[in-house]
Amino acid sequence: SAIYLADYREPTHWIDETHLDVVIFPDQTRVTARLKITPNAARAVSELVLDGEGLQTQAIYWNDARLTQDDFDECDGKLRLKQINESGWLTTEVIICPESNTALEGLYRSRTMYCTQCEAEGFRKITWYLDRPDVMSVFTTRLEADQSLCPVLLSNGNLVASGSLPNGRHFATWHDPHKKPSYLFALVAGQLSCVKDQFVTASNRSVAIEVYVEPKDLDKCSHAIDSLKRAMRWDEQNYGREYDLDIYMIVAVDDFNMGAMENKGLNIFNTSCVLASAATTTDIGFQRVEAVVAHEYFHNWSGNRVTCRDWFQLSLKEGFTVYRDAEFSADMNSSTVKRIEDVNLLRTAQFAEDAGPLAHPVRPASFIEISNFYTLTVYEKGAELVRMLATLLGPEYFRKGTDLYFERHDGEAVTCDDFVASMEAVSSRDLSQFKRWYSQAGTPELIVSSQYSEAYKTFRLTIEQRCPPTPEAAEKAPFHIPIRVSLLGAAGALPLKLANQAVGDLPEDNTEMILELTKSEQTFEFAGVHERPVPSLLRGFSAPVNLRYAYSETELITLLMQDTDLFNRWSASQELGVLAVSNAIKAGTCELSGDWVNALQANLQRDDLDPAVMAYMLQIPSVNYLHDRFPETDILTLHQTRQDLVRRLALSLADALREKVLAYDMRQPYEVSAAAVAVRSLSNTALLLLAEAKDPLALRESITRFKHANNMTDQLAGLRAIARCQSDNVVKEHLAAFYSQWKDEALVVNQWLSLQATRDEADTLVAVQSLTSHPCFSWNNPNKVRALAGAFANQNPGQFHRDDGAGYEWLANVVLKLNQANPQLAARLVTPLTQWRKHGQRGQLMFSQLQRIQGATLSKDVFEVVNKALT
Ligand code: ARG
Ligand code: ZN
Repeated sequence: SAIYLADYREPTHWIDETHLDVVIFPDQTRVTARLKITPNAARAVSELVLDGEGLQTQAIYWNDARLTQDDFDECDGKLRLKQINESGWLTTEVIICPESNTALEGLYRSRTMYCTQCEAEGFRKITWYLDRPDVMSVFTTRLEADQSLCPVLLSNGNLVASGSLPNGRHFATWHDPHKKPSYLFALVAGQLSCVKDQFVTASNRSVAIEVYVEPKDLDKCSHAIDSLKRAMRWDEQNYGREYDLDIYMIVAVDDFNMGAMENKGLNIFNTSCVLASAATTTDIGFQRVEAVVAHEYFHNWSGNRVTCRDWFQLSLKEGFTVYRDAEFSADMNSSTVKRIEDVNLLRTAQFAEDAGPLAHPVRPASFIEISNFYTLTVYEKGAELVRMLATLLGPEYFRKGTDLYFERHDGEAVTCDDFVASMEAVSSRDLSQFKRWYSQAGTPELIVSSQYSEAYKTFRLTIEQRCPPTPEAAEKAPFHIPIRVSLLGAAGALPLKLANQAVGDLPEDNTEMILELTKSEQTFEFAGVHERPVPSLLRGFSAPVNLRYAYSETELITLLMQDTDLFNRWSASQELGVLAVSNAIKAGTCELSGDWVNALQANLQRDDLDPAVMAYMLQIPSVNYLHDRFPETDILTLHQTRQDLVRRLALSLADALREKVLAYDMRQPYEVSAAAVAVRSLSNTALLLLAEAKDPLALRESITRFKHANNMTDQLAGLRAIARCQSDNVVKEHLAAFYSQWKDEALVVNQWLSLQATRDEADTLVAVQSLTSHPCFSWNNPNKVRALAGAFANQNPGQFHRDDGAGYEWLANVVLKLNQANPQLAARLVTPLTQWRKHGQRGQLMFSQLQRIQGATLSKDVFEVVNKALT
């Protein structure tokens, strides 16, 4: 049964205060909730309906009078109380069992600790409540547990009391002065060690920072703490946002469905997003920790102080916060590299989501299970919407807009409309058409053509927009699309003047301009263009669209070599890769263009080019992206064509690549600065390319890098290269060596599993299946399942799409295995199968696996995904 945005009503009652008493005993946790209830005058409904799931209700009291069976009705996850038409105290007592909670939602046990995950609707698994984000309450939480089993007891806010109790037990009471919705509640109880630090805010208040981890991980906290402090400062400087409690806690948990959770004052993190050390964590891992720590911190304002009215508005906090963390990472590292990574993710995974059966608007209009809507569309496309607003308004008005938004709505639960309204108010722009981005799904396609007039010195860009149909609507009204452009002449970017623009209106630097496309088709004419230019379009990926312009190879090479926008130089490199694939498909053989190779060669020799960007220029677009561009071509054909191209490119560039491998000094002390990361990235990319071509240097250097690396980035690069170029025995030997070196480091073991799951070998599926009985593997740990099954299905096109369908069948088995145990995880794993329509004949094999799943008794989560995929 779906719920609809259009049906939104204010809650019937408010909960002004929430007093929880959580008493933890093995297999039996008792939760007493004392709630100060006030009827909402705007609704005037006396029946109070609370949410609860899997609760063993022991007793219910209204103003201390125990209610009898006649006073309430408990069924289907609802507790109904008839006559609550004045303020009073509702007390409920329930028993729950965190030890048997494998869904990792609500209160559960992970190794030696108890912890919670309440977003979106997990709080109802802890106690009876109005479990919706527009009900905000002041929480006081008393925790009680065995002193030796759970020496650490944490919840949101400030510690107000603690002490020991008889029978080796103890308690702690926490009070959070900020009103919050139930999804931001958290508690942690367990055997944890703590690293302490502090931060002094702009207004000179000192904030205690405490990071809680298992004792073995104490040496892996410093990067998260440094990142947190940088994020705190950055938010003060860039958004004027200061932290608002005396303590900020982060807890690392090994079993976690997502990356992390922004619970007020008590973030809970997947270990993979908080722990980092040079020996065990790759550069990408370090950057991920920095980004996720910042993301959760930024939620304190964009999410917690100002929260969502209902879950349809999820992107209000997620899109905005992803935008904020992306800008933060761009400032801390290389902004071009960050943009390349984000655009890659968007164009491969989000565009595919937006073109498939699960496509939904950034603000969905309905859902069955909200957990299924923590998607790339809500997060990444949602962030692009905020980025477009920032582009349309410019930095000053955008900042005024966010200031107004925080000021107007502090302490409120609001909507995406409220966010846009603040932007409108400060800029006096009409953003009503822009708001279609929130309600219409699908990736618009921009079809651009140009016309140069030698005689009139004019250059015209004609831009048409189209958006394919998606499940919620076949017809789309035109979007408001900011298109950042430049025109490149022989000596660089040309000054721009639109034909109807007065010279006095031109900015000082007018070599770049933002065109605003609002109609289905529009022509922009530039005047005074004295040479035929190469247009540099959609610079920095100024809108989440598919750009189609019939560039010649020569023009793309001009962009690759000369564009003044570094992002667009990379973008041209990708388009050249697409062109090469296209030619290879047409010709049936992969002849590389000499001009392209020479251009890459020349770039490799330039020392003014960021090596990390260079590394990305050497990547042929992923198979998934190529499949988007060549929907008629079979995925395995694309995969093989791509592999062939990669090998040929490596052979053609071998000398320059060898130089990059040899120039690298492995003995340098490890550092995570953008510059150091960039050098490693290029050198390791070069090594891997040479390994693809079985180059003799790669045969030697892969082993050296594996053995003598002083950090995980290089060691893993060595192992990956080994896996691509060495004989089977040598590969197995090194995989075994790697495991015995790292078997006690869960996060490194995940890398080891993924590497095996992504090998393009005929026996990979068998190997993956047998790894599920390896002692390191556990079906109850989402990181392990994702490392193996997720990596196999999403990052191994050659084996997942085996002709016999065994890859699909195994994935379906995994989904069925986890369907009831961990519905959120199962629903995510099934995604690759939902793309069956794109796979022609092969798609039938995927389809029948989906049908097989549909035949089982499904959790809401899996049910929704599978049903949408089959209709
Ligand atoms: N709000 C969290 C974040 O973006 C993610 C929560 C995930 N919750 C879930 N039910 N899947 O940082
Ligand atoms: Zn978030």
